[in-house]
Amino acid sequence: MSTNSETPLPESLRLLVTGGAGFIGSNFVHHWCAAHPRDRVVVLDALTYAGNRDNLAALGDREQLRFVQGDIGDGERVAQLLEQEAITTVAHFAAESHVDRSILGPGAFIQTNVVGTFTLLEQFRQHWLAHNQPSSFRFLHVSTDEVYGSLGPDDPGFCETTPFAPNSPYSASKAGSDHLVRAYFHTYDLPTLITNCSNNYGPFHFPEKLIPLMIINMLLGKPLPVYGDGQNIRDWLYVEDHCRAIERVIQGGRAGETYNIGGNNEVKNIELVNTLCDLVDELAPDLPVRPPQNLIEFIKDRPGHDRRYAIDATKIQQQLGWEPQETLTTGLRKTVDWYLAHRDWWQPLLSEAYQDYYRQVYAGH
Ligand code: NAD
Ligand code: DAU
Repeated sequence: MSTNSETPLPESLRLLVTGGAGFIGSNFVHHWCAAHPRDRVVVLDALTYAGNRDNLAALGDREQLRFVQGDIGDGERVAQLLEQEAITTVAHFAAESHVDRSILGPGAFIQTNVVGTFTLLEQFRQHWLAHNQPSSFRFLHVSTDEVYGSLGPDDPGFCETTPFAPNSPYSASKAGSDHLVRAYFHTYDLPTLITNCSNNYGPFHFPEKLIPLMIINMLLGKPLPVYGDGQNIRDWLYVEDHCRAIERVIQGGRAGETYNIGGNNEVKNIELVNTLCDLVDELAPDLPVRPPQNLIEFIKDRPGHDRRYAIDATKIQQQLGWEPQETLTTGLRKTVDWYLAHRDWWQPLLSEAYQDYYRQVYAGH
């Protein structure tokens, strides 16, 4: 095994960000461009329903940033881009990311998350070989805590050696991609890194996910659908903290390693929804239904619904000095403020296609 993991990175990077028009990817692009203005940043995004060019609009047309609409599964396009842009580092966010959609139609998840990741990884390996295997190249694969499955109430949090036990087509497809990334390090020495993170929240979060869905439905006076008994637990992390963690891993992570990232903010869904109700009630001037708690409806559970996630982030804290800066209280307030100030961002996303999806998931409950 080579020892390329200790090699310092070059001072300025040439970064390919896949899925950079999605929720976390776009926050990451904002973060990276502000923190490293000299670096070249190329965004490759297929602009699926979850991708949105408006997420990057505030960055304007800065010279160091390029947006390319394309699919990670298009090997020729990926190869051309890696070469043309002399990419040294890949931050791979592109994925189908919503569990409920994976239950309705798992095929796209296998295609993008497994086959797409394989294609990207293989093209990056060819690019790395063509450049004589530079030890400073990096392939960072952004993954999820859901690969570890579900915890009991008293289990310790997931650590990097917790066995995989995915329970949804989404998490199974992410687990498959994690295995491929790991194998490329062990088999070919490709300098890969993996991060497994807990639930993110913050600006640019697509309306289908719990936190934006609840905020938007309160503003519209629509029911707040809580799955099952509302006692499922998630560990919430403000998206900017996730972006800072990924930055640390790119800069200082050891090739071949996995780093778990979490917010140390375990909350039951129903408690989170109640907190959001209080916040929106306080911050929104003219809510159609007050108090918004009156809109809460317990509905039939999500099939295969994982009961609890929790992350043990000791490794990244101790080895890379990362810890979250935002508390759930400060992060949720910022998030509600953002959705109140950006109706022009989320209103167009509630399209006819989105309403169709919404009916499919919620009408039967
Ligand atoms: P998202 O659904 O908001 O964004 C995904 C982006 O990928 C979109 O811009 C979409 O257009 C793009 N994309 C989809 N298929 C593509 C393809 N074939 N080729 C190119 N681009 C494609 O997702 P997100 O919530 O920002 O998640 C980003 C990554 O982080 C995912 O890999 C996800 O598994 C992981 N993750 C998410 C969370 C979370 O809480 N959201 C937590 C941990 C890990
Ligand atoms: O843990 C990391 C994962 O977090 C990421 O890998 C996924 O990409 C991301 O979507 C998220 O998955 P979850 O399934 O945990 O997130 P979601 O926002 O869909 O749901 C959060 C919790 O809220 C979950 O227990 C299901 C519940 N829920 C969700 C929705 C959309 C409801 O009770 N009602 C809802 O309408």
